[in-house]
Amino acid sequence: MKKVNEEIIEQLLNELSLEEKISMIHGNGLFCTGEVERLGIPSLKMADGPMGVRNDFENAQWKTIGLSDDFVTYLPSNSAIASTWNQDLAYLAGQVLGEEARGRGKDIILAPGINIKRSPLCGRNFEYISEDPKLIEAIAVPIIQGIQEFDVAACVKHFAANSQETERLWVDTLIDERSLREIYYPGFKAAIDKGGTYSLMGAYNLLRGEHCCTSQYLLGDILRGEWEYDGMVVSDWGGVHDTALAAKSELDIEMSVTYEFDDYFMANPLLLKIQSKELSEELVDKKIRNILRLMLRLNMIGDQKHNRVSGTYNTKEHQEAVLEIARESIVLLKNEEQLLPLEKESVKKIAVIGQNAERIHSNGGGSAEIKALYEISPLMGLKKFLGGNVAIEYAKGYYIPTEEEKNTLNWQASSLLSKDSSGLACGSNETRDNITSPEDKISHQQKLYRNNALEIAARCEQVIFIGGLNHDFDVEGQDRVDMQLPYAQDQLIEALLEIKPDMTIVLIAGSPVEMPWSSRAKAIVWTWYAGMEGGTALTEVLFGKTNPSGHLPETFPVRLMDLLVHQLDAFGQKDRVTYEEGINVGYRHFDTKKIEPAFCFGHGLSYTEFEYLYMVTTVNEDSAPMILVDLSIMNVGDTDGACVVQLYVSDIETKVDRPVHELRAFKKVHLSRGQKTTLQFELDYDAFGYFDESSKSFVALPGQYRIEVGNSSRDIRLSNVLTLKNTYYWK
Ligand code: BGC
Repeated sequence: MKKVNEEIIEQLLNELSLEEKISMIHGNGLFCTGEVERLGIPSLKMADGPMGVRNDFENAQWKTIGLSDDFVTYLPSNSAIASTWNQDLAYLAGQVLGEEARGRGKDIILAPGINIKRSPLCGRNFEYISEDPKLIEAIAVPIIQGIQEFDVAACVKHFAANSQETERLWVDTLIDERSLREIYYPGFKAAIDKGGTYSLMGAYNLLRGEHCCTSQYLLGDILRGEWEYDGMVVSDWGGVHDTALAAKSELDIEMSVTYEFDDYFMANPLLLKIQSKELSEELVDKKIRNILRLMLRLNMIGDQKHNRVSGTYNTKEHQEAVLEIARESIVLLKNEEQLLPLEKESVKKIAVIGQNAERIHSNGGGSAEIKALYEISPLMGLKKFLGGNVAIEYAKGYYIPTEEEKNTLNWQASSLLSKDSSGLACGSNETRDNITSPEDKISHQQKLYRNNALEIAARCEQVIFIGGLNHDFDVEGQDRVDMQLPYAQDQLIEALLEIKPDMTIVLIAGSPVEMPWSSRAKAIVWTWYAGMEGGTALTEVLFGKTNPSGHLPETFPVRLMDLLVHQLDAFGQKDRVTYEEGINVGYRHFDTKKIEPAFCFGHGLSYTEFEYLYMVTTVNEDSAPMILVDLSIMNVGDTDGACVVQLYVSDIETKVDRPVHELRAFKKVHLSRGQKTTLQFELDYDAFGYFDESSKSFVALPGQYRIEVGNSSRDIRLSNVLTLKNTYYWK
């Protein structure tokens, strides 16, 4: 972590009055703290968020100011960045975000969000990276480093265990110590130790009975105690509920959602308690030190103030950067008979079906929403690529009920909609004269939209379906109720496959969906919310200008009930949620219990083929790193492409409950056709351990371990067994 001159902090602290200190530790606007002009201490300006720098709000109203100069570069979501498995691109994403934040005059960018994806239903999954802590670390660390290069603080969020939106402010989360240490903490610890994040945001939820934003265990014992974090800790907006608790906790700044800033728990109520000697001023001094340290790190104050890096936004370079990231984020899930890529020259008429072909996503999702300078939709991407020589016929395909219609439905009716509407539209020519209920009206619309789509599909040579979710589902503050595609899309896809079995299916979403038709589909492409150039990147992949190289950063289950968390009914509770599945999150459960997922963790196809030629493992327990894994791979197909080499470790002789294997390293390698390369992984004892509750530390025991390398958690190409002779303990 960047060191600063602590003397400056003490000098300023001596000069600050109690009132001035108080003004610095709470929101003095929805996204800023108070300034102390007389001492040259500026206000801290913050902005969301993960997919670009959010537009400016009125200081004391949740109302966008409506500026014409706060449109920005729209970046791929964290799930998309993770899907590249490319640390250079994660770093590039961080640089874009940092430079734009600085260009917009912000000091803190409220990103990245790194909570574990334990269920596909969490409404904010699109903002998060993965189900796997190693992948989270690998992606989050370079994002943070990229951001902070521009003298802007990253703010890693939400610490910790904020993996559901249901009752997010009040749900008490119970997690055993081992799962916290192995699954939920490592991303945050790496963000601090390796990323050097200058700030961190507390979570809304409670952990073991304490609100995370003021938790003694989380912020006191773990963060400041064990991890010795000296950065700044800010609350989530409205995450503080008590003045004394907040004052005594390791939280530094209270932010909230109401406009009476002086009434915040860490404003006048705290001032009064200190004046009446109920609480000591020392508690505030601790917070001020952390805030001033942050300012020094950002060159906002002190000798280096005039050397603060400047930023910019909406540059051509940023637009190219987000295109590059989007290209590598797209995942080719299935490609039977090598249907893809399509050939631009041999097609004259394409039917594009589905509303995600034209939907704009940048303006939704909750605090992740932004004002994008532009957003290339898939339809625009296709049209600008095909350039007039190919006729594109577009049909919406499925009907999205209006807000008014949605409000007239009860939740049960809405959740059944996709099934109810199938009866009407699929194959049946039934027309209804008495369309009275909202359900009937919507079903009727579905039928009209579907019939129109089928007609268009029938007369075109190629059909590309572009559906999925949108930010009515992938959204802050609410979890999904199931994993199904909404708006009767399954029925539409089935009907389209009936007449065009060779059609391409593209899904855009922030979290997995059920694909009951997947065995009949030949070509399935997955894209996350991929930023302002998402439509360009998708088109390039469909037509082979870009060879897809995205891999899934999470398991895509066939059905929700295949996940242990849902079998145990341990998601979405309102008062208290117990993470009963423990460490068995995602592929750790699927691979151990041999449950076939729809598409496994790490999966992603390419238009070329990679062959794993050999692997050699060398162990020397007296050196660091202790283990070297050398391997050779070759691009044996006809096109240039990129391979994601994943390394999993399996504890063959384990006596404790451990997953069958765990991701410990990976590398993305770009290879021209026919090119061969060698690569090396370095492993240390920490790649072999687990958290031992009795010694309260990580341990790697002597014994045999298997090193597996391959293209996904289930496409292991080579493996070797090695032996560790010694025992290792670490914190
Ligand atoms: C979200 C945070 C966000 C903050 C400020 C909260 O509701 O949980 O992620 O940064 O609002 O907009």
